[in-house]
Amino acid sequence: MDKLKILIVDDSKLIVEYSKKIILDNNLTDHIDYVSSGLEALKILENQEYDLILLDVVMPEMTGLEVLEILNSRGDIRSYSIIVFTSSDDNEIIKKSFDLGARDFIKKPFRETELISRIKNIINGEKLKKELKEKIWDIENKNKELISLNKKLNDAQTQIIQKEKMAGVGNLAAGIAHEINNPLGFVSSNIEVLSDYYNIFGNIMNMIRSIRAKDNSDKNDIWEELDSYMDRVNIDFIKSDIKELFLDTSEGIDRIIAIINALRTFSSVDTIENYYSYDINDGINKTLIVSTNMHSRVAKINAVLNAKSEVMAMGGLINQVILSLLSNSIESIKACSDKRSGLIDINTEEDNFNIYFSIKDNGGGINKDNIPSVFNPFYTTKEIGEGVGFGLTIAYDVIVNKHDGKIWIDSEEDVFTKVSFVLPKESNKDGHNFK
Ligand SMILES: Nc1ncnc2c1ncn2[C@@H]1O[C@H](COP(=O)(O)OP(=O)(O)OP(=O)(O)O)[C@@H](O)[C@H]1O
Ligand SMILES: [Mg+2]
Repeated sequence: MDKLKILIVDDSKLIVEYSKKIILDNNLTDHIDYVSSGLEALKILENQEYDLILLDVVMPEMTGLEVLEILNSRGDIRSYSIIVFTSSDDNEIIKKSFDLGARDFIKKPFRETELISRIKNIINGEKLKKELKEKIWDIENKNKELISLNKKLNDAQTQIIQKEKMAGVGNLAAGIAHEINNPLGFVSSNIEVLSDYYNIFGNIMNMIRSIRAKDNSDKNDIWEELDSYMDRVNIDFIKSDIKELFLDTSEGIDRIIAIINALRTFSSVDTIENYYSYDINDGINKTLIVSTNMHSRVAKINAVLNAKSEVMAMGGLINQVILSLLSNSIESIKACSDKRSGLIDINTEEDNFNIYFSIKDNGGGINKDNIPSVFNPFYTTKEIGEGVGFGLTIAYDVIVNKHDGKIWIDSEEDVFTKVSFVLPKESNKDGHNFK
């Protein structure tokens, strides 16, 4: 430790010289200032800092106790180590000095060893204090570092969530484009066929008109021509096919409308940012529609949706959670090397207090040692680029933090995985009174 800066405050030149000599001889410090009155002491302390002050109690004009009182009233007594010199045996004075913040006292006249040991005590105390200060400083710095790291981590997390969402939207968009393409394909080919049929009926109409315009004698020929034309084009088939084509086409259009409707409300900004009265079964159906392309060739989906009540929720977010759980199930089935036929059971129930959701797949399952980790950010068993490890983290945040709910996983390796969550019908989360 650096040597101490010491201030001696005493009106007795003798004591000052004696103390100085002891301190210098013992190499305790070479930085000693002295003043001969309390007033001077207060003045010098306004601009200078000292590690140790040796303060006489009995001095003319201002006593040592008064100096202590003023330092106390300035509020900076704690930053000094003060030893008072007193020639008095008055315990009251000693007690008062301690009350006012003095750290020790020495009775005059004192011996060399006495002064040295008192000062060394203070040096040790100061040393400890300094070490402690450095440690606190160190901890504060580390704390600052941690806070800034935490902020960086949060920023990175937000970016990853953003990316994840974008990737999700991208995958979904590709699937939906494919899903819309199918019905659109047959609607457009149906229209081509219908347009051919229209031309045939046009021809028949023209023939009928020309029969009308002919003399009776010529009519029979054209009738025959008309009959053979109708045979050739197979008019009876066309008649029944037109009915089919219209039914087919309107089914295709309905399908496109359903996809677009599901897409519009599946996770619109409104449904992501606001709590509203949400029908989980409707949410599941919409999710299944927008994700048809993901699951239709991988698994048979068996949805038994028994919940009846709606619940106040950010429906768009819950739909995204359901989609994320569904895609975990699909990916797990797809990853099974035995190419099993996929089965996914989706179930909703309710009681007086809660809505219950579960999704169970017959995919590869999760090793029981890994189950506690699956909700951690970045935990993934998928190849780089295939999974970020955020699906379940976001699901946890949405269900537990945003809806006061619960989410958990049961699984048996290579047999099944079942993810369940509960949404309370009433919650006071974030001041939203879910009634
Ligand atoms: N249905 C499931 N069957 C088997 N394992 C699962 C299932 N759901 C989750 N897991 C395991 O939990 C891990 C974490 O899932 P999570 O959805 O959080 O991330 P991810 O699917 O790997 O990546 P991301 O969802 O970010 O694309 C998965 O990598 C997988 O190991
Ligand atoms: Mg996932």
